[in-house]
Amino acid sequence: MQIASTISQARALFDVLPRPLGFVPTMGALHEGHLALVRRARADSVAVAASVFVNPLQFAPSEDYTRYPRDAQGDQAKLAQAGVDVLFAPSPASMYPPDFSTSIDTGPIGDVFEGAIRPGHFRGVATVVSKLVNIVRPDALYLGQKDAQQTAVLRRMVRDLEIPINVVIVQTEREADGLAMSSRNAYLSPEQREAAPSLHHALQAVRLAMAGGRSKADAIAAARARLHPLAQLDYIDVVDANTFNPIETLSPPAFVIGAARFGTTRLLDNLWIE
Ligand code: PAJ
Repeated sequence: MQIASTISQARALFDVLPRPLGFVPTMGALHEGHLALVRRARADSVAVAASVFVNPLQFAPSEDYTRYPRDAQGDQAKLAQAGVDVLFAPSPASMYPPDFSTSIDTGPIGDVFEGAIRPGHFRGVATVVSKLVNIVRPDALYLGQKDAQQTAVLRRMVRDLEIPINVVIVQTEREADGLAMSSRNAYLSPEQREAAPSLHHALQAVRLAMAGGRSKADAIAAARARLHPLAQLDYIDVVDANTFNPIETLSPPAFVIGAARFGTTRLLDNLWIE
C-alpha cells in the first residue's frame, strides 16, 4: 500500500491507478464496519483508495474533535491487509489552508435530526467529501448505511452537483449483541457498553409494532420503554430514505432512525425498510 500525505503526492498516485477505482473515505480508528466498505470496494473495483482524515469542519467547537480516537499505525496495517492500494492521510493544514472559505450548503435534508442537533455538521461532511472526491477522482464512493442521513445528504449532493461517481451504500456491521460498530463505542464504560444495544432493540421494536399495524406514535412509545435507563434518547422516528422527512407508515424506501446518549457518548443507529 502506498501512502500519500499531501494533495500533490495523492494526485500523482491516483493519476496512474488502474480503473475502476473505488474510494472509501474515513476518519480512522478503523473497525470491521469500515473494513466491510473496503472489502466491498475491493470486490467491485480494480483499484481501491481510502482516506483517513479527522475532518475538523464537521465537528462543532463543543464536540470531540481533539479527543476523537486516532490510531494511524493500526489503521495503516488494517487497510493494507484489506487490500487498499493507496491511502490518502492528509494534515488539516494541507486540506484547509488559512484562507480556505468555500463550503457546501446541504439544504433542508442536512438541517433535520443529526443536522438539528449538530448545526453545520453536514456542511462539513459535504465539503470534505467533495474535496476528497476531487482529489481522488474515483469511479465509485463507498458509504456505510450506519450513517443513514449522511448517505442521503451525500447522494443528494452527488445528484444535485452532477458529480460523476456511483455511490454505493454498504449495510451496517454489528457486534454479536446488535450494537452497530462505531469508533465512538471505544468511549463507553462497561455499564454503558452493556446498555448500548438497547438502541438497536428499540428500533427493531418500532419496526415490529408498525408492521403489526400499530401507529407510529404507539410504536415509538413502546420502543422508548425498551431503552435501557442509561440511554438518553435524542430522537426515534421513521423517515423517507431519500428526503429524511418523517412519514407515518413503513413505506419503502424508509429508515427507522434513532440517536441516544450514553453518558457523553452519542450513538446512532437505523433500520433500512425496503
Ligand atoms: P467515519 O465515521 O470514520 O465512517 C467512515 C465510513 O464508514 C462511513 O461511510 C460510515 O458510514 C462507515 N461506517 C461506520 N460504521 C459502520 C458500520 N458499523 N458498518 C458499516 N459502515 C460503517 O463517516 C465519516 O467517517 C465521515 O463523516 C466521512 C464520510 C469520512 C467524512 O469526513
